[in-house]
Amino acid sequence: MRVPTITLALLVIAGLTASRDIPKPGADGRYTISATGIRAQFIPYGATLTNLFVNDKNGKEVDVVLGYDDATYYPKDTSHPTYNSIPGRYANRIGKAQFTIDGKSFKTQKNDGQNTLHSGTNNWSYRVWNVTAVSNDLITFSLTDKEDESTGMPGLVNANVTYSVFANGTWNIRMMANAPETKTPLMLTHHTYFNLEAYKNPATALIWDHTLSIPYSKRYLAIDSNALPTGNILTAEAGSFRGNCGGSCEGYNGFWIFDDAPKDAAVLTLASPWSGIKAGLRTNQPGAVLYTCAWSDGTASLKKTQGTGIAKKKMEKSTCIAIEAQDYDRIDAQITGPGETDIWESSWAFGTL
Ligand SMILES: *[C@@H]1O[C@H](CO)[C@@H](O)[C@H](O)[C@H]1NC(C)=O
Ligand SMILES: *[C@@H]1O[C@H](CO)[C@@H](O)[C@H](O)[C@H]1NC(C)=O
Ligand SMILES: *[C@@H]1O[C@H](CO)[C@@H](O)[C@H](O)[C@H]1NC(C)=O
Ligand SMILES: *[C@@H]1O[C@H](CO)[C@@H](O)[C@H](O)[C@H]1NC(C)=O
Repeated sequence: MRVPTITLALLVIAGLTASRDIPKPGADGRYTISATGIRAQFIPYGATLTNLFVNDKNGKEVDVVLGYDDATYYPKDTSHPTYNSIPGRYANRIGKAQFTIDGKSFKTQKNDGQNTLHSGTNNWSYRVWNVTAVSNDLITFSLTDKEDESTGMPGLVNANVTYSVFANGTWNIRMMANAPETKTPLMLTHHTYFNLEAYKNPATALIWDHTLSIPYSKRYLAIDSNALPTGNILTAEAGSFRGNCGGSCEGYNGFWIFDDAPKDAAVLTLASPWSGIKAGLRTNQPGAVLYTCAWSDGTASLKKTQGTGIAKKKMEKSTCIAIEAQDYDRIDAQITGPGETDIWESSWAFGTL
C-alpha cells in the first residue's frame, strides 16, 4: 500500500522513549510488551517475535508462536525457519533470480533452485535490527539496508516495524519502508508461525486439529513445483482446498487472495477447538501465504512454555502453520522508489471460541 511520504509527518506516537535512552532487554535477552490478557516478547535479531502469550478458554496463558528459549540460539540455528521474523527487502521468491526496472536488468542470488528466496543470503531476518523505541505496550525496530547489502538489490532502503499490543487481545504489526535513492523491489511480510495449543494437546501435535477460515479467498495463485507463482490465478472449487503445496509436499504452501473483504473484517481466522483460542487476521495486504511446516525435519526444540514435557519436545513436521500476509507480483516484481513509503499493517485479534 503506497501513500505519499508527506502525510507521514503527522505520525506522532505518544509516550515513546527517546532513542538515546532505550531500555535494555531483560536478562533472557528479550524485550517484553504487554496489555491485559496479552504479552509479547521480541529480540533484535530479525526483529523477531519469540513468545506470544494469550489466554485459553480456561483463562490460562498459552504461548501460541514457535521459537526457542535461548535468545542467542536464533543466529546459530542452521535450519533458520524464519521464525516470526521479517524476511526482506523482498519476501518470498524472485523468479530466475532476475528483475527489470525501467529497462535495466538486475540479477539476485540463486538460493532456492534457480530462484531467489527472501532476498538471498543476507536477508533481513538474519540481521540485528536497532531498537529505536520501547514503551510498556509498544516496541519499534529499525533497519537500514544499503545498496547491494541484499545482494543485487539497487539503492538504500530504510525500514522499521512497530509492534504493539492492546487490552482487547490484539497484537498489531506496522511496518514502513522507503527507498530514497532509487527504485528497488520491496515486498514486506511478517513470517509468523502458530500452534494455538502450544503443543500441549495430548491427543496430537499436528496442526490438522486446528480450523482455518478464509471466507473471502476463493482465488489462489497457481505455483510450479518450486513453489514459484506461474502468473495464473485459479479459483478454488468447493472441497478442493487440500494439497495445494507445490510438488509432492504434505499440507499447504501457497498464496490465497483476499477478495472484496468488508472493511475491518477478519480475512482469516485460525482456531483450536482444544485450547479454545481463536486468532483473527486483519491486514492491508491483498492476500497471504499459508505454509503448514511440511519441511520441518523434527530436530528443532520446543520452548519450555510449549509441549507436554514428556513426549513432545521437538517440532515435528505439519505441527504448525506460518501465515504471511503479503502482496503478490502483478508484473515482474513489486517496485518502490523515491517519494513513496510502503506501509504494511496487520493485526491479530485473539479471543476464545
Ligand atoms: C538468509 O541469510 C542467511 C545468512 O546469510 C542464509 O544462511 C540463509 O540461507 C538466507 N535465507 C534464505 C531463505 O536464503
Ligand atoms: C543501527 O544504527 C547504527 C547507528 O545509526 C547504524 O550504523 C547501523 O547500521 C544500524 N543497524 C541496522 C541493522 O540498520
Ligand atoms: C483493539 O483495540 C485497538 C486499540 O483501541 C483498536 O484499534 C482495534 O480496532 C481493536 N480491535 C478489535 C478487533 O476490536
Ligand atoms: C519508520 O520509517 C518511515 C520511513 O520509512 C519514517 O517516516 C517513520 O518516521 C519511521 N517510524 C518510526 C517509528 O521510526
